[in-house]
Amino acid sequence: MNVQWYPGHMTKAKRMMQEDIKLIDLIVELVDARVPLSSRNPDIDELGRNKSRLILLNKSDLSDERRNREWENYFKEKGFYVYPVNARSGAGLKAVNGLIQEACKEKIERDRKRGIKNRPIRAMIVGIPNVGKSTFINSFAGKACTKTGNKPGVTKGKQWIRLNKGVELLDTPGILWPKFEDQEVGIRLAMIGSIKDDILNLDELSLRLIGYLREEYPGILSERYQIEEEGSDLEILESIARSRHCLLKGQELDYSKAAGILLDEFRNGKIGRITLECPPDPKKSLDQEKG
Ligand code: G4P
Repeated sequence: MNVQWYPGHMTKAKRMMQEDIKLIDLIVELVDARVPLSSRNPDIDELGRNKSRLILLNKSDLSDERRNREWENYFKEKGFYVYPVNARSGAGLKAVNGLIQEACKEKIERDRKRGIKNRPIRAMIVGIPNVGKSTFINSFAGKACTKTGNKPGVTKGKQWIRLNKGVELLDTPGILWPKFEDQEVGIRLAMIGSIKDDILNLDELSLRLIGYLREEYPGILSERYQIEEEGSDLEILESIARSRHCLLKGQELDYSKAAGILLDEFRNGKIGRITLECPPDPKKSLDQEKG
């Protein structure tokens, strides 16, 4: 993986984020429920210290429900507010307003004591690319939302979306950078389709996925492709190629085509609801886990 472009890009993103964070009370961080750790960057913990925090496990329609609950508990134990959502369908979004109030209750109380009434909570959405930030803003803010435009004292050009009387959302999300230096993180993000396929070896990726599914979700491949889950991972890919009639000229099997089908169907949730990461040992710190 080419990481040469990365430092400059990251510095700029970080600087922009720092400026935006000064304007807000609450960070709503979207992670991908299939890879809740690989799809987050713990730098946000440093950038967002002293801010209220809400983590949304997005695309929870594609992830394993049992694991969703485990991840909810995991993040709760770390002191975050957390909730599974589906930004595409809108499922779970109704609860988010309440959670925002809950996460900011100390600020609301502080304001009240100082006699400040009706100052809206200001929030921003952050997350790595493709995690669903734009989809979330569109579904959550809805069609009825009003853009509040520039206000005196607010950095020029910032647009706020008034969600209701109590909450305003920065209309442009903060883009976090994935932890590409960790190869396993890169592989998991590739599996969910968050890294461009043209820089990847899809055959290898599909073999990794097959290995994981056989171990964590035994039977799921045999059910989807009507194959036996026997032999090596390569033999499984071969069986998928045969079952889906992936053939090159003559009768030779087209492994790459089978790999593409498998990855596609996994990413679209057709194989089933699958989570690629389970919560690590709660005794370890997040930084150690990201390693
Ligand atoms: P970003 O701003 O964070 O980069 O992500 P964006 O909203 O563009 O979403 C990336 C893709 O993820 C989109 O699909 C979007 O529809 C999908 N998505 C977002 N939230 C959810 C969710 O909760 N569940 C599921 N299943 N998908 C979700 P796309 O294929 O790129 O576009 P499209 O097919 O929706 O047009």
